[in-house]
Amino acid sequence: MKITKICCIGAGYVGGPTMAIIAQKCPQIQVTVVDLNAERIADWNDEDVNNIPIYEPGLSQVVAEARGRNLFFSTEVDKAIDEAQIIFISVNTPTKTYGKGKGMAADLKYIELCARQIAKIAKDNKIVVEKSTLPVRTAEAIKSILDNTGNGVQFQILSNPEFLAEGTAVEDLLHPDRILIGGDETAEGQKAIQALVDVYSNWVAPEKILTTNVWSSELSKLTANAFLAQRISSINALSELCEKTGANINEVAKAIGMDSRIGPKFLKASVGFGGSCFQKDILNLVYIAKSYGLNEVADYWEQVIIMNDHQKKRFSNGIVQTLYNTVADKKIAFLGWAFKKDTNDTRESAAIYVANDLIGEQAKIAVYDPKVSHKKVLADLDYLETRSSKKNEEGVQSFENPYEACKDVHAIAILTEWDEFAQYDWQKIYNGMQKPAFVFDGRNILNASELKKIGFIYQGIGA
Ligand code: UDX
Ligand code: ADP
Repeated sequence: MKITKICCIGAGYVGGPTMAIIAQKCPQIQVTVVDLNAERIADWNDEDVNNIPIYEPGLSQVVAEARGRNLFFSTEVDKAIDEAQIIFISVNTPTKTYGKGKGMAADLKYIELCARQIAKIAKDNKIVVEKSTLPVRTAEAIKSILDNTGNGVQFQILSNPEFLAEGTAVEDLLHPDRILIGGDETAEGQKAIQALVDVYSNWVAPEKILTTNVWSSELSKLTANAFLAQRISSINALSELCEKTGANINEVAKAIGMDSRIGPKFLKASVGFGGSCFQKDILNLVYIAKSYGLNEVADYWEQVIIMNDHQKKRFSNGIVQTLYNTVADKKIAFLGWAFKKDTNDTRESAAIYVANDLIGEQAKIAVYDPKVSHKKVLADLDYLETRSSKKNEEGVQSFENPYEACKDVHAIAILTEWDEFAQYDWQKIYNGMQKPAFVFDGRNILNASELKKIGFIYQGIGA
């Protein structure tokens, strides 16, 4: 099958960057990204390429190169589905907030709507690719919807999970550790797999392209995220023990990371992991395990989330305790709101939960994040439904300038590991603060001894 047109449903953090790279690397293929959200599409089409809705280092250059040539962003979902031979589904799959599996299972309503729309529109054979992270056996549900259209169109369903991490999306897409494609073992299934392999072969070496059955592919994605998150919860669990015993978590992480069987990555103790994937995928894994009666398996993985929640709580409790057991009417600056550096994404960011706790203690929060707007900060707090919007507005302010945010505050908390934070003039910040001046470094990125020399009372994680 010769692929000339690709459509991607969902212009979010996965669909946008992934399609931009496919378009850049495959100029012979027309790539159209569609979304129901007209504002988001308008932003992707903004004349000034720096205004695209997702901040990722290097992404605007890729979009500038391919947009209008063979990369298009549109709200005309039906047209794009009709024309494409391959349709990627990259819509959001949040944790269910209602009904059976509430708070645990993935909400597949957006996926199902896509499948139904494809079924309605398609007039010729299509390859449908699951790009969003999905529970195992979702492909089966998509297939069942598509196969029952009765219009004689043949669909092949592939699972092609995305492993990119935000903040390094472009790099990860250009140089992936592996591309995973799961499909049917039938001849037709194998042909569909090959068609997608051919797309990736435009820039990925053949030995990095792995093909499996659909279920292995779906489960591998959940497993990869569960393992990564588990490493963070493991190191965070030990950070608490370090604080009690006089060991230093950075030293422990370094010492164990030099064991080649363990490896050095994902051992950075922190205020807790965030992001749209880890928690959602583990909850999903837990839900699936429980649904098969595998309670021990479910409990084992659930502990990763319990530990992460504990770490966030421990951070906010630590601030309150250290500030003489009350933060009422005290001003606390937050450096960072995004869930990690180099992204404007705030989904499940630890900052939201820590701020929520501190506002509950009547503190006033002053936020500075180089890429996150005040509107987003407020929306994140409102989403928790802990108190009214008005109360959230009273509890949190945002600043365009870090020195302004830190002026007159009692304490500074580092919530995101943005590189620039370590470069600030900390003496100047100290001079402008209430005394004693506290720093709670939730990312262990500041130079502790220098800060202490200036006069700060410094508390990091795990030391
Ligand atoms: C993750 C997976 O890495 C990626 O493969 C998958 O496709 C999507 O989920 P992402 O959530 O974008 O990617 O970022 P990641 O770099 O994994 O960080 C997740 C969270 O863990 C962040 O809050 C980060 O700050 C935190 N983290 C990461 C730590 O606290 N310590 C570490 O050592 C690493
Ligand atoms: P992700 O991180 O998985 O990319 P996002 O929430 O950033 O998730 O993006 C998902 C996008 O999918 C959103 O912009 C949303 O508007 C879009 N979307 C959801 N359902 C549909 C649909 N049926 N048709 C088109 N777009 C959809």
